[in-house]
Amino acid sequence: MIQLFHVYKAFGSRNPALIDVSLTVRKGEFAFITGPSGAGKTTLLKIISRAEKTSSGQALVNGRNLNRINERELAFLRRRIGVVFQDFKLLPRRNVFENVALALEIAGFPLSVVRKKVHQTLRYLGLANKEDCYPPQLSGGEQQRVAVARAIINNPLILLADEPTGNLDPDLTMEIMALLREIHIRGTTVVVATHSQELLRDTRRRIVTLNKGRII
Ligand SMILES: Nc1ncnc2c1ncn2[C@@H]1O[C@H](COP(=O)(O)OP(=O)(O)O)[C@@H](O)[C@H]1O
Ligand SMILES: [Mg+2]
Repeated sequence: MIQLFHVYKAFGSRNPALIDVSLTVRKGEFAFITGPSGAGKTTLLKIISRAEKTSSGQALVNGRNLNRINERELAFLRRRIGVVFQDFKLLPRRNVFENVALALEIAGFPLSVVRKKVHQTLRYLGLANKEDCYPPQLSGGEQQRVAVARAIINNPLILLADEPTGNLDPDLTMEIMALLREIHIRGTTVVVATHSQELLRDTRRRIVTLNKGRII
């Protein structure tokens, strides 16, 4: 599903953010990327979502080489990758329904389909009564659940989560992690980047550790 071969990524003349990173994440796998702040976790997720290009080396997602892909294929692929961030990145002036619906509207689904899918997904995430709320009116945990709803609304092949519990207290952290596990059980490949050792303590999942841009 995700294949990285000798990936380097440098920003300007600084020390490279990623150095010779080779990694395969299989379809249906749940993997953690960990390592201290600045290790390259976010950059790695950005390479996978093609938010950033590799400086050298290859990144393949679903068999497509991200360096060679054309705009149309890229748009298609991006729709199959859901992303969740530490700071939620919800649109503050759009309500919950609109935040979640946006991706489907951009994808060109008719309004009736959009409504049905959004209702369904919000119900699934326990947000059915929050549709008309604006993000600033929600708790951190609720905002993150809205962000997860937005990320999974298109039935992504892959869900990437970058420090998804970084702004949440321990109870809500457990709740969001349980949600990610459930999404994984339903068939999505999930990759979670976290610097938190706490989150990894009891996990049986694969853990990939980065340090100064290298896998160790
Ligand atoms: N857009 C950017 N421009 C310049 N340097 C960057 C950029 N993104 C990341 N970096 C640098 O790359 C390194 C890895 O960063 P990052 O991937 O954010 O690490 P992590 O997510 O593990 O904290 C850091 O040294 C960071 O300063
Ligand atoms: Mg990061």
